[in-house]
Amino acid sequence: MAPQISLKAALLVPLAGMAVAAPAPADVGINIVGGTTASSGEFPYIVSLSRSSSHFCGGVLLNANTVVTAGHCSDYSASSVKVRAGSLNWSSGGTQVGVSSITRHPDYYVSNDIPYNDIAVWKLSTSIAETSSTIKYAKLAAQGSDPSAGTTMTVAGWGLTTETGTTLPTALRKVSVPVVSRATCQAEYGSGSVTDAMWCAGVTSGGKDSCSGDSGGPIVDSSGTLTGVVSWGYGCARANYAGVYTRIGKFATWINSLA
Ligand SMILES: *[C@@H]1O[C@H](CO)[C@@H](O)[C@H](O)[C@H]1NC(C)=O
Repeated sequence: MAPQISLKAALLVPLAGMAVAAPAPADVGINIVGGTTASSGEFPYIVSLSRSSSHFCGGVLLNANTVVTAGHCSDYSASSVKVRAGSLNWSSGGTQVGVSSITRHPDYYVSNDIPYNDIAVWKLSTSIAETSSTIKYAKLAAQGSDPSAGTTMTVAGWGLTTETGTTLPTALRKVSVPVVSRATCQAEYGSGSVTDAMWCAGVTSGGKDSCSGDSGGPIVDSSGTLTGVVSWGYGCARANYAGVYTRIGKFATWINSLA
């Protein structure tokens, strides 16, 4: 059976508090499943990407005018999207700015619903300064680094809290998941589906994962270093199907060249 792949972007969520339109199977997304609410200052680099006042993806603030996110979160024109930083609530608070350019990785593509080289850099039209606690720039994992199986990583976002959920939570959530070896993840999805530009995390029995609406947002190690961004998976939090993340260690040089 071919897995039904879910990009983790909430592309069809219309407005906070409104029902999600029935998504096409390939767009069924996930929010943080099996997690807890995050505290102020815990993920000071996370941003919410929105369009027409609707959150659709997460992102990560790298410096005053640069955000990194998933390639599959980057289908819109720069003038139609906004970035909110410094708030636990995607719909209010903190500071919201416009976007001047969106650059997807030149090798980004989608095949059989799976996004490859799923990374993009957005430039902001207004600078966002660091604050004492709620806004801080993220530190990227080093070029060439690759998370080891078994390492605990923490992912945060405003995605769905169940695979079949219909409304996004407004409060930021987080969950910790162990890294799954690439060989195991390839056994789950097929060897060609999981490249060395991806890594995987999840619990074998399921129950903890990122989900629709979390795409593009951060997954970090115990020191808070950005090791991945949320990319795709088979549903959300299913047993024997890890969540798949874009590997920052494969793209740090490219990101830095645009930051
Ligand atoms: C987020 O902000 C919106 C708009 O102000 C508000 O209605 C909602 O209750 C807030 N959510 C939380 C969890 O505070």
